Amino acid sequence: MSKKPLLLAAIAALATLSCKTEVPVPEIIPQPEEITVNEGVFKIAGAPVVIGEGIPEAAVKAINDFSAQVELVSGKKTKEGAPAVSYVLNDNLGAEAYALNVKKDGVTVEASDFNGFFYAIQTMKQMLPPAIYGSVPAKGKWVLPCVSIMDSPRFAYRGLLLDCCRHFFPVEEVKKVINLMSIHKMNRLHWHLTEDQGWRIEIKKYPRLTEVGAWRNGTQIFRRGETDGVRYGGFYTQDELREVVAYAAERGITIIPEVDLPGHMIAALASYPELGCTGGPYEVMQYWGVHKDVLCVGKEETFTFLEDVLSEVMDIFPSEYINIGGDECPKVRWESCPLCQKRIKQLGLKDKDGFKKEHYLQNYVTARIQKFINDHGRKIIGWDEILEGDLAEGATVMSWRGTKGGIKAVGKGFDVVMSPNTYCYIDYYQTKERDKEPYRIGKYLPLEKVYGYEPMEGMPEDGEDHILGVQCNLWAEFLKTEVDLEYQLLPRMSALSEVGWIPKGTKDFDRFRASLDHMKDIYEQLGFTYCKAQWGLVGLPGHEIPARSAEELDTLDYNKVPFMEQ
Ligand code: ACM
Ligand code: ZN
Repeated sequence: MSKKPLLLAAIAALATLSCKTEVPVPEIIPQPEEITVNEGVFKIAGAPVVIGEGIPEAAVKAINDFSAQVELVSGKKTKEGAPAVSYVLNDNLGAEAYALNVKKDGVTVEASDFNGFFYAIQTMKQMLPPAIYGSVPAKGKWVLPCVSIMDSPRFAYRGLLLDCCRHFFPVEEVKKVINLMSIHKMNRLHWHLTEDQGWRIEIKKYPRLTEVGAWRNGTQIFRRGETDGVRYGGFYTQDELREVVAYAAERGITIIPEVDLPGHMIAALASYPELGCTGGPYEVMQYWGVHKDVLCVGKEETFTFLEDVLSEVMDIFPSEYINIGGDECPKVRWESCPLCQKRIKQLGLKDKDGFKKEHYLQNYVTARIQKFINDHGRKIIGWDEILEGDLAEGATVMSWRGTKGGIKAVGKGFDVVMSPNTYCYIDYYQTKERDKEPYRIGKYLPLEKVYGYEPMEGMPEDGEDHILGVQCNLWAEFLKTEVDLEYQLLPRMSALSEVGWIPKGTKDFDRFRASLDHMKDIYEQLGFTYCKAQWGLVGLPGHEIPARSAEELDTLDYNKVPFMEQ
């Protein structure tokens, strides 16, 4: 061994030794970029707040809410003249970044935008007892450790997909999840709102979408063919959707709605059968998977329908991006539909580069909808299938079939959001003991694997600028209740939050796992169900576990996605 490593090791050992005599590094998820811990604490209970010039109004509200919350839980009224928490606008800091300096005689928070101030508050909350998230006075050490933090996100897009179609979750539960995302400094909720199994957005011009399309006559409970026969459904009114958009915005979160097209549209076809190639009849699907009936794109009425729907959607959701889906669109109906074939002929589409002409018909749909959305000042994002064949400049690709779609898209100069099923599909089982877990879809995706995801893996070297960020996807095929939803979400969403936030090469599973003990207390304070496998308990006590062997679970068709309804 050369001298240098020995010297470094000695310095590291000394540093560790000196750290041990100091205050421990606070357990914060996602871990801040730079954190220095000093001796001493700041008494936040009773501390007045000083709000500097030019701080955005929404941030002032968040600051005052936090101050009121400290007052409530600590039971201590603000004392004029006591050491203060000062908030200062600092335009030199980047988007969503913040600097937090906690000293015994005062705290300074600096940021340049709403999210920066809001995230500084989230960091302070994580350094306080979990009762800070409660609504009653609580005994506790209402002090912040003296720290100096400089923090900013690695990626601008740190998302979660919530599928409220396969199962419907009420507004209150969606808000609960938004709250949890904001604690983790996640800032995009990809809201999956239209599907074969249910249409969930009220569209004033097409009332049957929610009168008919929001309801199904049963739900697949295990294998295909096994349905519970119980009528099921629900939808969000436009007022409710606007309320959720505003609630999310107050927490630094943009909601990106998904209208999945031209496949995954059976609920719309059941409502308006004339939009299909065969004319139906169609029934809102009771089973999971991919259906061969899709929108007929040979008909102009289909585009009128889509544009009308998207106009209402854009009116509700002010997001820069609108997700247009584009995944799993079989072309069987188009192959035999005279109108779709006529459109193919008119457009002069041909089989090319290993793709059939019907593939290029989907490209035509994507491009036409992209133009419509761009004309309204927005951008499209879609699943990686939209890349197959041709894709117009300006589209963003969401890589879900592993990472290859994202890698290819970056190679072609497109922006991407990485949500590969291999790392980010948190609807999959999270332990290997599948016969002890509630019944779920798909494969095994443990916490460590989610945490270990490196979005640059396999990417062109200069590709990072094209990676907008990462997203974990919570599909809800077998998530019947809020307990199911939360159990799948946690703690893997906590792991994904670090993938999106902390600098490349700085992740450390052992450190994250240790911090998770504190985060778990926050889950409990907020009343979340979570998977306790990390704390030695597999499964969900009191929850029905289907008596099926692990071998039988392996034989299921939806463990080999995608599959198609015949
Ligand atoms: C997908 O999971 N079908 C995007
Ligand atoms: Zn057709």
